[in-house]
Amino acid sequence: MSIHVNEENKLFHLQTAHTSYIFKILENDEAGQLYYGPRIPVKDDYKNLATREEHDCTNTLTVDQPDFQLELIKREYASFGKGDYRYPAYQLTFHNGSRTTEFRYMGYSITKGKKRLKDLPSTFDDAGDDAETLDLAFKDEYDHVMMLLHYTIFEKEDVIVRSATFSSFCTDIMVNRAMSLELDLPDANYDMVQFSGSWSRERHMIRTPLRSGIQSISSLRTASSHQHNPFFMLARPNTDNNQGGVFGFNFIYSGNFLDSVEVDQFDTTRVLVGINPDEFAWKVDDGETFQTPEAIMTYTDKGFNQLSHQLADFYQKHLINPHFAGKERPILINNWEATFMDFNEAKLMPIVDKAHELGIEMFVLDDGWFGHRDDDHTSLGDWFVDEKKFENGIDGFAKKVHDKGMKFGLWFEPEMISIESKLYEEHPDWMISTPDRLITPARNQYVLDMTRQEVVDYLFDHMSAIIKKTKLDYIKWDMNRNITEMFGSQLKHDRQLEFGHRYILGVYQLYARLTEAFPEVLFESCASGGGRFDLGMMYYAPQAWCSDDTDAVERIYIQDGTSYGYQQSMWGAHVSAVPNDQVGRLTPIATRAAVAYFGDLGYELDVTKLPQEELDQIKEQVAFYKKHRRLFQFGKFYRIDSPDTATDNVYDWEVVNDDKSEAILARFQILNGPNPAYIRTYFTGLDPEKMYTINGGDEKFSGAELMNVGYFVPRIMERKPEKDPSDFSARILVAKEA
Ligand code: GLA
Repeated sequence: MSIHVNEENKLFHLQTAHTSYIFKILENDEAGQLYYGPRIPVKDDYKNLATREEHDCTNTLTVDQPDFQLELIKREYASFGKGDYRYPAYQLTFHNGSRTTEFRYMGYSITKGKKRLKDLPSTFDDAGDDAETLDLAFKDEYDHVMMLLHYTIFEKEDVIVRSATFSSFCTDIMVNRAMSLELDLPDANYDMVQFSGSWSRERHMIRTPLRSGIQSISSLRTASSHQHNPFFMLARPNTDNNQGGVFGFNFIYSGNFLDSVEVDQFDTTRVLVGINPDEFAWKVDDGETFQTPEAIMTYTDKGFNQLSHQLADFYQKHLINPHFAGKERPILINNWEATFMDFNEAKLMPIVDKAHELGIEMFVLDDGWFGHRDDDHTSLGDWFVDEKKFENGIDGFAKKVHDKGMKFGLWFEPEMISIESKLYEEHPDWMISTPDRLITPARNQYVLDMTRQEVVDYLFDHMSAIIKKTKLDYIKWDMNRNITEMFGSQLKHDRQLEFGHRYILGVYQLYARLTEAFPEVLFESCASGGGRFDLGMMYYAPQAWCSDDTDAVERIYIQDGTSYGYQQSMWGAHVSAVPNDQVGRLTPIATRAAVAYFGDLGYELDVTKLPQEELDQIKEQVAFYKKHRRLFQFGKFYRIDSPDTATDNVYDWEVVNDDKSEAILARFQILNGPNPAYIRTYFTGLDPEKMYTINGGDEKFSGAELMNVGYFVPRIMERKPEKDPSDFSARILVAKEA
């Protein structure tokens, strides 16, 4: 049992294997936060935790309660307007324009398991034996509104999932702000660790101490964005990969979000995670309910690696589609960087043949197979094959790939429309635009109004037809521009601010219908690389294209940042040609592969143009990856030395299997230097008692030795750079139980 309630004291203690989360109902009948951190024993009450100090000049509940000052209280889900001037968790507007709420606690219920949300991606416990859910009910009598706070406790993974719902009775209300999670912490001695960047430079770690005021990351792009990932952490200043206290927060949503951390005048910290209240409002008519997306929080006192591991476990069990959770992903070849849109069946077949020879398992046909799309000006929305490129139809080509025993995948960009397209000729009004305003182009394309049911239906029908025709195995679902001139032609003026959320609900509906109708099809989400790399997408598409940047060195930074909050099977990682298309860098193919092993491996280059020596290497890489695929995709990922901690230009990643009988460590050396310091490689996460060999060598090492004494790998000082350059090199060490 993970939820302990003391009814007399109205105290709730949510316990996971290693954490405790405690709150109680306060004098004003709202819920007040008491503690979140390492697990402590259950007691009837925690009077000391609830002790308050009186401060001058703050508002009190009544004249007789001078110590009840909302400004000083740690709250569970804060309102505005009653004397707490920190940013609130929610804000409603009533029919008379007032924004003051007085929700009072009504009661609670506990249920086993965790039901999926209806129209939103969500966590789940379908069997009902791995989670407990607590719902707390509050009512604002005067305005007839119910508010429910939902908590699901995933005991084993140390994760708590939160959301809220607002229901209206007798009156219409406007929800102007409805965050999914609030956490008030008693001090501010934390670093905020966020993952930010840009297109081709996604999710670089940034660590900054909290300070007075608000630090936040957010998106207003109706996509979670390349710029800021919704995942972030609050870590004690001394926390590193191996030790220290850290909270992790993530949001199961793909649209506009806000993660905000406010440090107030008394150095307490308020965390808020939810839909960005800017560009959002939702009208709840009499009898209707608004459900927020879910947010997750987790804590460990054992450092960043442990936090990543508990999230990784959690996603595979309670977020990723069970059809693909823990299932090995195929090695693919994608034709994008090999041909861009300049291809036809005759040009592609040799690539397919060669890829097959190399042991690659799936061919993915990227952008340019439909309508008459020879460049990015046309054809988005016309989801039928370009017969000039495929005389035998797309099904004919798919059959040839399937006949080789390979899987077949296709690229779609469902949410988009080109002005030069049949779809636009027929339905110009399906494109998002604001009446009488110019339309802003981006990548020569425009966005479909996914809030319209007929648009979702059209896409479902056309995509289904292609899926059936080609017996499709995989879809890369791309999304290459953000919305401008946001306006819903079918929404009334008082519902226009619902557009962003409704758009994402339309995207989710299409995903839900397709994944239900075609459970065998593996989806990979993509948004110009990692522009929508979030848990909302991953509920439907168990993997995402990590970044358009395929340069091995850049990918070290990107995948390293990504690994803090996500698990390796959730990102695609490809070996591409050099000079690299994004940064022009030359790196050895061995290094490109070594980086891409730590993810869902793919190749994205013209294998018909490579020298035999490189083809031989690819064949070996594919065989090596197949042998260790489970370990690379699902093993425990350790950042031993990360770009943010390493001082010697050498980074080490490691994956370890469940019974610790096997581990693979990759050591990347960025730039070489003269007379470098002597460095050892320290394994981690091994069994100290077990004996291991390294790369099949004769000498045996105990796990304790490899972890504490380390293993010496000489630096590469090769003088024949064309063969084995010393810059951008990689070494792979396979530790196997002897
Ligand atoms: C985006 C994707 C690429 C590729 C192109 C095709 O940029 O991230 O991988 O699919 O679109 O237009």
